Amino acid sequence: MKKGDLYPTRPRHSWVFYCLDMTRVAVVTGGASGIGRATVQLLEAKGVAVGVLDRNSSSPVDVADRAEVKAGVARIRKTFGPVDIVVNAAGVSSSGQLDDEAYLREWERAIAINLTGSMHVVRACLPDLLRNGEGRIVNLASTEGLGAARSLGPYSVSKHAVVGFTRSLAVDLGRTGVTANCVCPGATLTAMTAPIPEVDRHTWARRHVPAGRYAAPEEIAYMIVALTEPGASFVNGAIIPVDGGQTAMSM
Ligand SMILES: NC(=O)c1ccc[n+]([C@@H]2O[C@H](COP(=O)([O-])OP(=O)(O)OC[C@H]3O[C@@H](n4cnc5c(N)ncnc54)[C@H](O)[C@@H]3O)[C@@H](O)[C@H]2O)c1
Repeated sequence: MKKGDLYPTRPRHSWVFYCLDMTRVAVVTGGASGIGRATVQLLEAKGVAVGVLDRNSSSPVDVADRAEVKAGVARIRKTFGPVDIVVNAAGVSSSGQLDDEAYLREWERAIAINLTGSMHVVRACLPDLLRNGEGRIVNLASTEGLGAARSLGPYSVSKHAVVGFTRSLAVDLGRTGVTANCVCPGATLTAMTAPIPEVDRHTWARRHVPAGRYAAPEEIAYMIVALTEPGASFVNGAIIPVDGGQTAMSM
């Protein structure tokens, strides 16, 4: 073994970085709503400069469109400087039975946005992330990326793939100091779940979630932001449920 093989990259952050985050720049997809928006607020409260890529914002970006992502990241870079943090929170729910007419369309939409969109954003930011050995990537999967619920096939498949994408990033970038981790939220009260009648949400949560309730978006953002910290330099390839104990329960 060559000298240096065991510790090829050392964390290069300083204590100044811990106290004053002014110099770091984040790209947050899906930052206009829900978990993404809560993440933007928490990062900004820590002094991180945040650029949002969202199809529902003043300069809309569809993460499934590679050219739009490249242009959006270039705009953020020009405004704030090189990107240190990527949070892929843009996502859509997608359901259906295998024999539904719309199944293939739903499948392609879920893969294009939830999976391929995350890849476009990581690739557009990669040169920046690599520049100082401290880049941070956090992808959003779901408890549906760890197991499958009935009739949510396209969504579940896309989120399992986000878990796989995160692991492959962690392995390929392991020596560079860039980390890639995945947060798997359980049911969270956002625009995505708001259409579910409140009484159904309560009944389901009391039955399936040890915490007995849905999460608030801030409770998911807390973990996302923790993974972006300079000090989280040895957390790599972790797939972390933030689900009130849902996946710990045997039924
Ligand atoms: N809410 C939940 O219960 C829950 C549970 C597990 C995982 N998640 C995941 O967390 C992430 C955030 O979800 P949320 O609950 O905050 O949803 P949300 O609907 O509140 O926010 C999603 C955001 O993504 C944006 N978006 C959607 N498609 C886009 C596209 N093609 N290009 C750019 N932006 C796009 C939307 O405009 C919106 O601002 C998603 O990846 C979702 O799958 C949510």
